[in-house]
Amino acid sequence: MMKNHSLALVFSSATLMLLLAINPSRAFAGTKPNEQAGAVLFRDKGCAYCHGSTGQGTTRGPSLANIRKTWKAPKIAEQIEKGGQKMPPFGDAVSNVELTQLVAYLRAKHRPVAPPVAPSEVPPAAPAQ
Ligand code: HEC
Repeated sequence: MMKNHSLALVFSSATLMLLLAINPSRAFAGTKPNEQAGAVLFRDKGCAYCHGSTGQGTTRGPSLANIRKTWKAPKIAEQIEKGGQKMPPFGDAVSNVELTQLVAYLRAKHRPVAPPVAPSEVPPAAPAQ
């Protein structure tokens, strides 16, 4: 009998982990990890330099404010990977996961704001002699 119970426990935790893996944004209601990671990538990979800190556009790159209404995810991903006339390709600079996160950020209904850049790490103090 005990054995059956622990089997059921193993099975249900495995199911839970599977659900979390399939749909993390739903599992962590209110937080959208991919969108948040994408916001940070947008800042750190140089997108913001041309498209503005919130994607509002600059003289170097167009506004991406309404891209979720006008471009489907695969088209956005392709633009990022291959670049365009004036936009450099980022295929070698972003991993597949990062690409997914950037697309999630650009397609988010309410785009999260990336936290301010952290101050550079202070080197650890030398060990006491
Ligand atoms: C050097 C400037 C520059 C950088 C850096 C840059 N872009 Fe662009 N981006 C552009 C320009 C200019 C266009 C318009 C099409 C073209 O000329 O390539 C564009 C177009 C786009 C488009 C399609 C929108 C449209 O209306 O054409 C998307 C989506 C996009 N960029 C996303 C990104 C993302 C995400 C990053 C960072 C990984 C990024 N861009 C980095 C300049 C840049």
